[in-house]
Amino acid sequence: MSGTWDELIQEIKNRLDIVDVVSEQVVLKRKGNSYWGLCPFHKDKNPSFCVTPSMGIYKCFSCGEAGDAIKFIMKTKNMEFREVIEELAEKFGLEVPTSHKSDGSVREIKEQMLKATEVAAMFYNDLLLRNKDNNAEVAMQYLAKRGIGTDIIKKYHIGVASKSFTALYDELRKDFSNDILEKSGLITKSEKGGYIDRFRNRVIIPIQNENGQFVAFGARAIEAGQSPKYLNSSDSLIYNKSRLLYGLYTAKDAIKKEDGVILMEGYFDVISSQAHGIENCVASCGTSLTTEHVKLLSRYTKSRRIYLSFDTDSAGQKATARGASVIKEVFAGLGDVKQFDESYSLTTADKYACEIRVIAPPEGKDPDEFVRSVGADAYKTYIQNAPLFVDFQINSILKNKDKYKTPQEKAQYVSTFVPVLSEIKNKIIRSEYVDMVAQALGIDTDAIKTEINAYERANIPQVERIVKNVTKNDSIIQKAQKKLLSMFLVPDSRFTFTQINDMIGDVAFADEILIIVKSTIDKLICTVNNVKELLEHLYTEFVDKPEIQALLPELVQASEAYRGLSDEDFANTIFEIIAKINQCKHAQEIKHIRKKYQDIDDNDPEALKIQIQLRDKIKNKNR
Ligand code: UTP
Ligand code: MN
Repeated sequence: MSGTWDELIQEIKNRLDIVDVVSEQVVLKRKGNSYWGLCPFHKDKNPSFCVTPSMGIYKCFSCGEAGDAIKFIMKTKNMEFREVIEELAEKFGLEVPTSHKSDGSVREIKEQMLKATEVAAMFYNDLLLRNKDNNAEVAMQYLAKRGIGTDIIKKYHIGVASKSFTALYDELRKDFSNDILEKSGLITKSEKGGYIDRFRNRVIIPIQNENGQFVAFGARAIEAGQSPKYLNSSDSLIYNKSRLLYGLYTAKDAIKKEDGVILMEGYFDVISSQAHGIENCVASCGTSLTTEHVKLLSRYTKSRRIYLSFDTDSAGQKATARGASVIKEVFAGLGDVKQFDESYSLTTADKYACEIRVIAPPEGKDPDEFVRSVGADAYKTYIQNAPLFVDFQINSILKNKDKYKTPQEKAQYVSTFVPVLSEIKNKIIRSEYVDMVAQALGIDTDAIKTEINAYERANIPQVERIVKNVTKNDSIIQKAQKKLLSMFLVPDSRFTFTQINDMIGDVAFADEILIIVKSTIDKLICTVNNVKELLEHLYTEFVDKPEIQALLPELVQASEAYRGLSDEDFANTIFEIIAKINQCKHAQEIKHIRKKYQDIDDNDPEALKIQIQLRDKIKNKNR
């Protein structure tokens, strides 16, 4: 197709799917006709960001950012409108009218870098396969010892870097400028001032992005004593470690098919596993797991089922715990993490926000060694029986029980696993686990329960305590906050208390009484099943605090206004109230600083500081 610039824009808009576009950077959950997630434009702890596909738009109910798919790309990737259109035109195979082609300097540099990196990958691969370098034989033997033969070398484009200082540079300088080669991390300035190859005397593992483009390298030492073990490309215009997963290009179909992904630690874990038929695995490249990695993966697995298959040593255990908490962070507010197996009943893919499982063969080998020595079938059995993260944690607790004998040691130990037990939402399951742990460690069940309660009380979100009495004439902000509390009491809401709580997040309540009511609700929602029970408990809790009890009928009355709302409207109402509260708070702050500014003498050195503060606050408001 060749048409005008406007036609091109229209065609691109027709082809763009806002849910797909946003999903590249935000984990979305469907609710009715819209999708909700954590806003990428402000530090959002609860999903305030809403995508409406029927209208092709997104909007954050907390910070107000809104627009269409193209604006989303411009904002999140920091690109100009023209750049976005050109990039999308290329992606969709549409022609950009010549009159509108920009010189696109950054785009051209990126293209050159991609080309240079690909040529380099082919060069290293060629040295190895065609035995073109003294090092080729050593590398071949090294790889053979690791069970890697020609087929795998070809599939993963594995190569070798020469001992010589300029083998690659000599080859690539003919076609690429020094600047491009340096930007791509292929050469570095030598002490003498010239350029030398960055990777020397190493096995080269080219890193491809999701689309199969070569963007970086991991380079493994071949000789004993060579340090570091892996030398990795640094981030560049075409490579961002925290957003790329090694092996994803070759794994993505399998991840979709299996509806699950296995996270491993090393390049060779992925290569060996994939080569042995376990294809849905990826690894981060010399960096620990980031929230961006998890977001990237969640686009490929509907159930958001993530297996952690790290080393079984203590470093690996720590990485497992850390990995799980990164995953939880990404899905926070989007629902529960799967906490028990119910394989006997069908569950829909959308029931849980995510599912985290751990693959930890007792043999204590990394996946690479395991599949090569014990076998891929054995590994597959471990995948099938992989425990949920929570079960894995409880097991680790039980496994270590013999190390703790004295009462002091036991008390110390209990404090390490109380957070684990406290995370279990289902009361019945939690109590089963508490019993199990109590029995195994020979500790009184009630003692553990008391510890859990104490832990939970101490971890109620610390709200900002502004001591102020509830006045008869409620301020707008107080009214809004009462409305927010009344959302818990809507009788026919289909949201669980925890979900409502998550949506409300850490909005700071403005007076003593509201703070007390909110933190009591926080405490109660784990133990009550419905609005009636919640109210009964609230009345009992405040039996000797009539001034608080008096507030309850008011909240019940307010909740009537929100009966019969659709899920979407219910959630929207919450987010709108929060936005209102935030707005009021901001206005109050501005008012406060304004007052300070008016009262201060112009010659006071503080005056300028306050003026700047004021300007920043106002600017923030308009953003
Ligand atoms: P490991 O040290 O666990 O090694 O590093 P491995 O993958 O088992 O390596 P082999 O089997 O001995 O070759 C795991 C991952 O950590 C990164 C690499 O991505 C590696 O695959 N790493 C490790 C580095 O980036 N630099 C290093 O020096 C070491
Ligand atoms: Mn290894």
